[in-house]
Amino acid sequence: MSRDRVNLLSAAKQDGLCVRDMLSQDLKQVLAIELNAQASPWGRLSFEESLTKQHRCRVVDMIVEDGPTAIVGYHVICQVIDELHILNVVAAPQFQGLGLGHMLMADIIDIAQKAHCNKIFLEVRSSNQVAQSLYAKWQFKQIALRKEYYRPTSVGQPREDAFIFMRQT
Ligand SMILES: CC(C)(COP(=O)(O)OP(=O)(O)OC[C@H]1O[C@@H](n2cnc3c(N)ncnc32)[C@H](O)[C@@H]1OP(=O)(O)O)[C@@H](O)C(=O)NCCC(=O)NCCS
Repeated sequence: MSRDRVNLLSAAKQDGLCVRDMLSQDLKQVLAIELNAQASPWGRLSFEESLTKQHRCRVVDMIVEDGPTAIVGYHVICQVIDELHILNVVAAPQFQGLGLGHMLMADIIDIAQKAHCNKIFLEVRSSNQVAQSLYAKWQFKQIALRKEYYRPTSVGQPREDAFIFMRQT
């Protein structure tokens, strides 16, 4: 197991993971994770727009004793009247499979409940079974399909369908 993963596990055990609002100073770290984690990564402008619009952007910090704090995950959500829309959810690749996805979802549901949102929506690639499994565990159900919604991730590849998932808060 790599040193980073050992650090994450021990940080989690010591409550060394903390969720907080994203700041513009975080974008360098967030963009580095985004590039490595996503099939179609958001650019700096998308994050900057989310930070300046009424979107809520949150990061998970890993705090290790005697070490620098590092961002290991984040989400971006947007409230539209009584609906919450999940725009982005990412766990840094080297920390995936360790519970960060559950931690990010718990933060999203908490925000939705406090804001009295009735429903939470998201879009997910039809091939993204890990994310779909995470959402199913949080009682999201597929409610629609958008055919060929996502642009190809490389030349010669077909467009990809999007599943729309929804959960009653
Ligand atoms: C989707 C994502 C956020 C999940 O984060 P994660 O930290 O790896 O997830 P967790 O460790 O909390 O696991 C949450 C659930 O995801 C599923 N999961 C995680 N790793 C998996 C794997 N290797 N295979 C299948 N399912 C997996 C399981 O349902 C798991 O629940 P369980 O641990 O109770 O069995 C992460 O994989 C990611 O950032 N992916 C790239 C970006 C992305 O696709 N974002 C979603 C866009 S819609």
